[in-house]
Order: sequence, then structure tokens, then C-alpha cells
Amino acid sequence: MKKKLLFLGPPGAGKGTQANLFCNKYGLSHLSTGDLLRDEVSSGSVLGLKAAEIMNKGELVSDELVLSIVEGRLLNTNDGWLLDGFPRNVNQANSLKILLEKINQPLERVVLIKIADDYLIKRLLGRGRQDDNEQVIANRLQIYREKTSPLIDLYNKQGILEEIEGNADIDVVFSSIEKALGG
Ligand code: AP5
Repeated sequence: MKKKLLFLGPPGAGKGTQANLFCNKYGLSHLSTGDLLRDEVSSGSVLGLKAAEIMNKGELVSDELVLSIVEGRLLNTNDGWLLDGFPRNVNQANSLKILLEKINQPLERVVLIKIADDYLIKRLLGRGRQDDNEQVIANRLQIYREKTSPLIDLYNKQGILEEIEGNADIDVVFSSIEKALGG
């Protein structure tokens, strides 16, 4: 089973849900930049307040902030890791590559969870997180298309991309991921 992973996909695709299940089963560190940023927001720090403003609009917080959060965590993992929500644009992907070269832990597989907009919008509206309202979801989707989706091609060209259908029951999606990763 591969142990240096990235889950990619639009908002609401199920990245967080599947990453939690996968990390619990296989003992990997789950590095979710969304969760780490929400922790920062809950702490009430100045950084958190700034991040909240951006997240509530569905925009991306600065690459510098996200990179500093991820770098600290990655340096402290030793039995594999799963990145969820990072990288989110080409600049973050390039920085990640440099960081992983430095620690000699190359990315082994990228799992793209695919799902049509209609389904994910219904899911997100049903969840009701602060950034789950129609206008902000539309913005998150647009940013995904503009800034994050170019990573699909990038990882496909490296031969490490696996595509999974996300519109199925949680356990069915999980089985597809395990199969794609050699479990
Ligand atoms: P982030 O937290 O990463 O949000 P996101 O990418 O929009 O992802 P979601 O958490 O909405 O969806 P998911 O794919 O994880 O699905 P989930 O499993 O939760 O980022 C939030 C914000 O933080 C960004 O907008 C940005 O501002 C900032 N940020 C984060 N990372 C950043 C970065 N690297 N750079 C810059 N800014 C960054 O599931 C969604 C719902 O669907 C849940 O209710 C779940 O129960 C349900 N569900 C899941 N799977 C299924 C299924 N198979 N069937 C039915 N329901 C399901």
C-alpha cells in the first residue's frame, strides 16, 4: 500500500471523509490544510482572523501561510502521510515538490475524486459549514477549476494519478481508493 499520498478533487467530493477513513485504517498522518486553518481560526489568533475572512469568501489563503503550516507537519511525520486540500495551485505544487525532495519522501500517488457539480452542491448545502452557502460554493468551484484543476494534468503527466468516481456510497468510494492504491 502506498503511504505518501494526495487526495485531490472539488469541494464536497469527499476528500476529508475518505482521508479520515484511510488514515485510520493505514496509520498515516492526515494533513488537511482546511482543518488546520479552521483550528487556527478557532484559536482566535490574528492569523486565524485574517484566514477566516478569506475562507468565508471561498478564496485561497496565501501560499506562504499554507506552506508554513504544511512544512512543520510534514517534517514531523515518519510513517506516511496523506495530503488533503494541499496543494491547491501550481505554485503550491512546486513548493511541495521542493520540500519533498529535501526530506527525500517523493509523492507516490494522487487520488482524484471526481463528482458532478449538482451532487456536491447538494452535499455541501446539507452540511452547512460557514463557507457552505450557494454563493461561496460557486466561488470555491470556480477557484477549483481555475487554480486547482491544472494539477490534474501535472500529476497525470508524472504517471501517479488515479481517478475515482466520488458519487457513490462512502464505503464504495473507499473500496475503489484502496483498490487503486494497491490494497
Ligand atoms: P477545505 O476544508 O479544504 O474545503 P474544500 O476543498 O472546499 O473541501 P470540503 O471540506 O468542502 O470537501 P471534501 O472534498 O473534503 O468533502 P468532505 O469529505 O468534507 O478548504 C476550506 C477553505 O480553506 C478553502 O476555501 C480556502 O479558503 C482554505 N484553504 C484550504 N486549503 C488551502 C490551501 N492549500 N491553500 C489556500 N487556501 C486553502 O464531504 C463533504 C460533505 O459530503 C460532508 O457532509 C460529508 O459527510 C458528505 N459526503 C462525503 N462523502 C460522501 C458520499 N460518498 N456520499 C454522501 N455524502 C458524502
